[in-house]
Amino acid sequence: MTDFRAFRIRHDDAGHRAGIETMDTSGLSPGEVLVKAAWSSVNYKDALAGTGKGKILRQYPLNGGIDVAGHVAASADPAFREGDAVLCTGCGLSETRDGGYGEYVRLESRWTIPLPRGLSLRESMALGTAGFTAALALLRLQDNRQAPSLGPVAVTGASGGVGMLAIDIFSRAGYAVHAISGKAEHFDFLRGLGAAECIDRHALAFSGKPMDSVRFGGALDNVGGATLAGLLPLIAPYGNLALCGNAGGIAYEGTVMPFIIRGVSLLGIASAGTARDLRARVWQRLAGDWKPRHLDRIATREATLEELPQVFDQMLAGGSFGRTLVRHRDAA
Ligand SMILES: NC(=O)c1ccc[n+]([C@@H]2O[C@H](COP(=O)([O-])OP(=O)(O)OC[C@H]3O[C@@H](n4cnc5c(N)ncnc54)[C@H](OP(=O)(O)O)[C@@H]3O)[C@@H](O)[C@H]2O)c1
Repeated sequence: MTDFRAFRIRHDDAGHRAGIETMDTSGLSPGEVLVKAAWSSVNYKDALAGTGKGKILRQYPLNGGIDVAGHVAASADPAFREGDAVLCTGCGLSETRDGGYGEYVRLESRWTIPLPRGLSLRESMALGTAGFTAALALLRLQDNRQAPSLGPVAVTGASGGVGMLAIDIFSRAGYAVHAISGKAEHFDFLRGLGAAECIDRHALAFSGKPMDSVRFGGALDNVGGATLAGLLPLIAPYGNLALCGNAGGIAYEGTVMPFIIRGVSLLGIASAGTARDLRARVWQRLAGDWKPRHLDRIATREATLEELPQVFDQMLAGGSFGRTLVRHRDAA
């Protein structure tokens, strides 16, 4: 048993509470692989969970943090040995099991990914769920024949974590990325990441017609709602829209026309439940030919466990820009 510190989230008759607690490794969720955490990251979902402003945890108490990277401290599965560098994103962390905001985390071996050659632990968390989601979307798009020749790929919510990483990854993979963002002050930054064009979302007027002139070969939509409905009629024949977010709402009104006249496909992206073989493929690409070229510009901040509440508040107030890494005490 080892004592360690964790940012632990509770909800009981007294309401929501979250903060630093000391616990020991025998109190962690079950799993074959005990990991000494080095890095985690902050996603929107982490902010909702940590503040209690969204119902993310399905049981209490749990340590927060949907992402983690570190070294194996002990393993009951011979596939992992002490000292191995590993990572995990999603897979129930901070939903049904203790997450990456503990200095130790116990993982199920089936969801533990050996750190691929080409990525440091810190880089893997600069990517985290956001980078994994962007790359998973690209894999799904390509598996459904999304070629650069179909036309530019629109990325909505472009100044968010998924959006920025998607711009970098998609442009590196040869696509012309049209970044759709509400933050015109960041357009130069987004162009620096690889966006061929930046479009102000406030000035983007969708016609509301069931079909419209083709404008994009495909899209990655972080926003959903009316944006999803507006984009579908603009996608080229046999292009795809990969849908991963709901920053703009969950309900959308649309018609069947883009699907049955142009053969457009709507691809759902659910990173947390991705099958292990696909998960491993995505991480291999992220460490290799899809590794973002501007990770150090995108992951600009580091926070300690103590600083998390203030990071969450800023994120939920819409005041954060770029990804925030969580640095554990022994991170190299
Ligand atoms: N499906 C999955 O597996 C998965 C995984 C990770 C994240 N997500 C979801 O994907 C979305 C993006 O995640 P993220 O980590 O990148 O979040 P984020 O950093 O908070 O970025 C979201 C972006 O969406 C835009 N936005 C916010 N409110 C909006 C509104 N009302 N209408 C239109 N655009 C709005 C903003 O970009 P601009 O100002 O640039 O427009 C914002 O930066 C979130 O909905 C998140 O829950 C899903």
